[in-house]
Amino acid sequence: MKKINIGLLGLGNIGTGVYEIIQTNGPKINLSAEKELHIKKILVNNLNKERKVSVSPEVLTTSIDELLKDQEIDIIVELLGGIHPAYEYMKEALISKKHVVTANKAVIATHGRELMKIAIDNNVALRYEASVGGGIPIINTLSKPLSINQFEELMGIVNGTTNYILTQMTDFGLEYDEVLKTAQEKGFAEADPSSDVEGEDAAYKLSILISTAFGLEVSPDNIPREGITKITKDDIEYASQFGYKIKLLATAKKTGNHLEFHVHPTLIPDSHPLASVSNEFNALFLKGNAVDDLMLYGKGAGPLPTGSAVIGDIVEISKIIGTNFDPTISFPENIDQLQLSGEGTSKYYIHFRVEDKPGALGFISTAFGNNGISIETVMQRSRGEKYVPVIYILHNCKREQLNKTFEEITKDETVKEIRSILRVEEF
Ligand code: HSE
Repeated sequence: MKKINIGLLGLGNIGTGVYEIIQTNGPKINLSAEKELHIKKILVNNLNKERKVSVSPEVLTTSIDELLKDQEIDIIVELLGGIHPAYEYMKEALISKKHVVTANKAVIATHGRELMKIAIDNNVALRYEASVGGGIPIINTLSKPLSINQFEELMGIVNGTTNYILTQMTDFGLEYDEVLKTAQEKGFAEADPSSDVEGEDAAYKLSILISTAFGLEVSPDNIPREGITKITKDDIEYASQFGYKIKLLATAKKTGNHLEFHVHPTLIPDSHPLASVSNEFNALFLKGNAVDDLMLYGKGAGPLPTGSAVIGDIVEISKIIGTNFDPTISFPENIDQLQLSGEGTSKYYIHFRVEDKPGALGFISTAFGNNGISIETVMQRSRGEKYVPVIYILHNCKREQLNKTFEEITKDETVKEIRSILRVEEF
């Protein structure tokens, strides 16, 4: 059997997972790849660090050149994370005519098209299945079996940290800060959780999904986004009374020839398949004009699930090494001629703290009416306090209409606070 030499960049969480799977499932992997896979070199920061896997010392190196200049290495597997130097290393590897596999959502979201072009120019493959949804085969599924569809919408729970936090808040009636602390202790949230909880991680993944499904390039910085840090247990409780769960959704939806896209905490009906995706699990729900509704579900992070996706890519590349087959999963063309249009319209959930006095609800409702916003439901929870929670569910409107209404409302002291503004999805 022909030998395929692999150079691994990084032996952290995912690198360790990859190494472990190759050790335990080696014969099965080689059979699938139709080649014998061999990890020849691993780039690490510290040669003497204690590791969960036993690796012979001569495999480890701190010099990137030992991998990039090694003519025998066929595939570079980048698992460093972060944009620099991962981007530069991948670029150099492709220029050196080495195939590249990566789990790096930040690099693919920001430099994916450029790297893909370099890969094509050098007749090598660039694969990035693990960059979205960890172990769930999303990229491959969108690019291959589902690629004959015109996609109408994608809605993803693509961040396990925030899904874990929201699930725990929902199941145990806890506030965000309490759950974050436990999530950090249990390893479900990073010491600095900002990229996850502020929606940046989900925006990277949405950018890759939009490229893969719609053939449109949208920088993660241009994706309207909001995280989960302001969600309260009261919002979760009120949403539940209306029959909804709150999830951080990465959404891309076609309306006419426009594509709306955003990352927002969103109320979804209990009957929606995404409502039952709990804790650290991820899922992508999509609608294609041929396949109709479909959901991909699984673990979005973790050394073994992510390692599984990485090795899947290595195997696909190994199979075609030495053949004339075009190895590239390219970003498709925007054949539907869609235009990017940002946030678009939505139903909204608004939570006000309002002075409990005659005319208060009339005042707010009139302001909505004045700005062309139609009200679907109103709920007031009065417990005899001076200020009480009032929840509105609004029919579809634009964010600008809402902002104008809020400007009008906050000129008066009836409304003490606009506590939450959340999107609502129907099913
Ligand atoms: N930080 C991500 C999450 C995992 O919480 O889902 C890696 O993409």
